[in-house]
Formats: sequence, C-alpha cells, structure tokens
Amino acid sequence: MLNNGVSSSAAFSELCDAFENTQREIADGPIIPFVTPEEIREYLTSRYDFRNPMPLDEAVADAERMLRGWNVQITHPRYLGLFNPSVTLASTIADTLVALYNPQLASWRTSPGSNEIERHTLGWLRQKFGFPAETLASFTTGGAESSLSAVVVALTQAFPNYGEDGLRGLHAKPTIYLTGEAHHSFEKIAHLTGLGRRALRRVATDSDLKMDIGDLARLVAEDRNAGLAPFMVIGTAGTTAAGAIDPLEELARFAKLQGLWLHVDGAWGGAAILSSRLRGYLQGIEQADSITCDAHKWFSVPMGAGMFFCRHPEAVRAAFRAETPYMPGKMAGAVVDPYTTSVEWSRRFIGLKLFLALAERGESGYVDMIEHQARMGDVLREALTHAGWKVVNKTPLPLVCFTREGVVPGKLLARLYEHQIAYMSEVTLGGHEPVLRACVTSFRTTEREIGWIVREMSRLAALGETANS
Ligand SMILES: Cc1ncc(COP(=O)(O)O)c(C=O)c1O
Repeated sequence: MLNNGVSSSAAFSELCDAFENTQREIADGPIIPFVTPEEIREYLTSRYDFRNPMPLDEAVADAERMLRGWNVQITHPRYLGLFNPSVTLASTIADTLVALYNPQLASWRTSPGSNEIERHTLGWLRQKFGFPAETLASFTTGGAESSLSAVVVALTQAFPNYGEDGLRGLHAKPTIYLTGEAHHSFEKIAHLTGLGRRALRRVATDSDLKMDIGDLARLVAEDRNAGLAPFMVIGTAGTTAAGAIDPLEELARFAKLQGLWLHVDGAWGGAAILSSRLRGYLQGIEQADSITCDAHKWFSVPMGAGMFFCRHPEAVRAAFRAETPYMPGKMAGAVVDPYTTSVEWSRRFIGLKLFLALAERGESGYVDMIEHQARMGDVLREALTHAGWKVVNKTPLPLVCFTREGVVPGKLLARLYEHQIAYMSEVTLGGHEPVLRACVTSFRTTEREIGWIVREMSRLAALGETANS
C-alpha cells in the first residue's frame, strides 16, 4: 500500500508559480548573452572562494541571475537552435521530486516503484515504435549513451568473443555504415569502443541528404571483398543538420539480407511516431534492431533523458552483464536490475520526467504539442519563401535550412543575436556553402513570433549589412 503522509504539495504549488513566472520573464527577456569568460571568472573568483558559508537564499538568487544572464535561453520561444526544447511544468516538477528523494535505480530491489514507472513509460513508447513485448529498454543520459549502447550490443551479438577477448580477438575488422549526415557522436563511440574512427564507413547521400542504398550495397560488398567485417548500419530519423530521414524500410530490407544490425537514431525525430500525420515518414523503424530516442529533445523534458530500445534482450544482457557480492540480490521473476542491462551503474530516476509529463498532458496533449511544432515548421518555410529566402532542405519535420543571395550566414547570425531577434545556427549541407538553420524546438513558439522573426531578418538582409564587404 502507498503511504499517504506526503507533505510537499504546498512547496509544489510555489514551484508551479515560480515556473510560470520564470517562463514569462524568459520570453520577455534577451535570448543571447554577451559576456566574456574573463567577466564570469572574475565574478566567480571575487564572490566564491567557499571559505565562509553564504545564506542559501542569497546563493540561489545569484545562481539564478547567472543562469538568466549568462546562458542562451533555450526555453525562449524564439530559440530556433539545436534540438534543445522548452520544458513542461510536469517534467520540471518530476526532476525536482527526483532530487528530493534521490532514489537509486541501479537495482530493482532498491527502487521497485521507480523501476516499474520507468518500465511502464518505456513500454508505452516501445509499442508506438511497433517493437515486440520482449524488447529491453532503458532510460539513458542521452542520445550519445543510447547509441553507444547500440554499438556495444551489436558488437556483442555479431562477435561472441568480443566481450571476453576484445577487438583483438577478432579475425577481421568490424565496420559500421552511416552517412556524413549521421550524428557525430558515432565518431566518439567508434573511438571509445576500440573500433577506431576509421571503422565508420561513410555512405553517399541523395539530393535530399538521405542515405543512398545503392552506395551502401556497393561499400558493404567492397569491404567484404577486402576482408573487413561489416556488422552494423545506422539509419537516422531526423538528421541534426537538415532533419533528413533515411529510407528506413529499404534499409531494414538490406540489413536483413546482409545480416547487419540496423540501429535507427531517432534522437530527435523519433518523437514523430506519436503523430498520425508524421509517423508514415518513419515507416521501417519497427524493423530496426535498436532505436535511440531522446525524451530531452522533442518530448520536451529537461536534460538528460535519453532512451534505448533493443529487440534482442539476450544481447543486451550479454553486453552489460555484471555480478557483484555487494549489490542487492536478484529478484526472482521478470524484473531487471538496470546496472546489468545498461552502461550506467548508479542511476538517477530519469524516467519520471516523461512519466509525469505524459500523465499530465495525456497522449493527445503530446500529439498536439508535436503537431503544433511541425505546423510552425511549415509556417516558417512558407514565410521564408514568401519573403524571398531560399529553403534548401527537404523534410516533414520542423527544421528549415535556408539562404539568400548575397547573405553571409555568419554575419546575419551576428546581427540577429545583437538585436535579440532569434537564436539560430549555421550549417553546411553536403559540403556546399554554409546556410542558416532554424529548428522549432519549443512548443511555445507561435505563428506571430515566426512572422516577426522573418520580417526582421528580411529587413536586416535588405540593409546590406549581412553581405560580404
Ligand atoms: C540525431 C542525433 N543523434 C544523437 C544526438 C546525441 O544526443 P545527446 O546530445 O542527447 O547525447 C543528437 C544530438 O543532438 C542528434 O541530433
């Protein structure tokens, strides 16, 4: 039975007020800080030698001033940057609750309630992805850890000696296939796992920056002939630079035929699976061997909250197995000790953020949020085109890459920041000239803001100050 003696509701009603006020103030304030490292270091050195205690309310007020004044405000409705979201009230409360109780999720026995809440929440999304009931899923610190897990599990499955003897026990060099648009965390993963960065084989892309399956087939065949050991292919559902979605169905077919592990990196775009308007674009994801999807991207919960789904539970168990005399003993039955099925050992209760946010908004609330952002992406594309900008990427997701004759992206960005118009970034796609990149990552971004941003950008471009001098 649950103990009813919970007394923190007054504190949480204060947190709700503080949340609403903070969001309002952020929306009315600057997005981009202008501060030098010297200014920050001098301030910290002058105030914080930690020799004497400081009243907590004073320290908290100062920490909040630093958070507000010295960071890009990623929850600002005019933040159109990388995949960092605005956060929901429920998920913010969840993170505070987790810090308050600090449950340890390494073993099931220590935190049965928290472990089962995570299992329940992951089970909901697992079904949306069309993965089978035996799927083993975990919350992770983020997309990089999820994809690292995928590579380690795929290696373990493909090369049974890998766990005991390492890569030096293998008779051929394992190789992974991905496009130049895939996330660059795979470079670090190749390095970390001992595969080496050269184990990453770059597959060509088509004009929409999607993986060219013909080139994949050619590379795999060439590598097999050269004595390498292809074992894995990465498809991205929503690339970081352009939001491109690789042809997942064709990829799944090819991977099956060739005995390759298919990992789909849906760190951002995976959330589109909830929307009946968008999920068709992810067709084929249900056939993947594993998936990365981040709750701290399009599911709008605070960092870090990644998720890793794998349809081969035995391979996950083999990859992360650990036995100790000091951890609580295993429970009988179908429960999992996360320290034996994931990279981490001590584990924060990451899943409560998504659980509470889903409980509060319901699935339909989430669909509305995701479809609103997708619609704002369309509004942005149309407004840019109408104002004479050229959209250069093709995706159903709310990520727009664009340019204009004579405009130097770096210069335009400097002016946008200087006037606190919006935060966006610059990318190069397929080795071409840099272009501007704007992604609707906030469920708070409205049509009015987008119209204003495009008008202001066009005005700056017309002034000629953003061109090459
Ligand atoms: C497509 C993609 N995959 C993986 C990652 C890495 O995720 P994280 O930053 O959560 O580790 C990112 C980060 O933006 C990403 O865009």
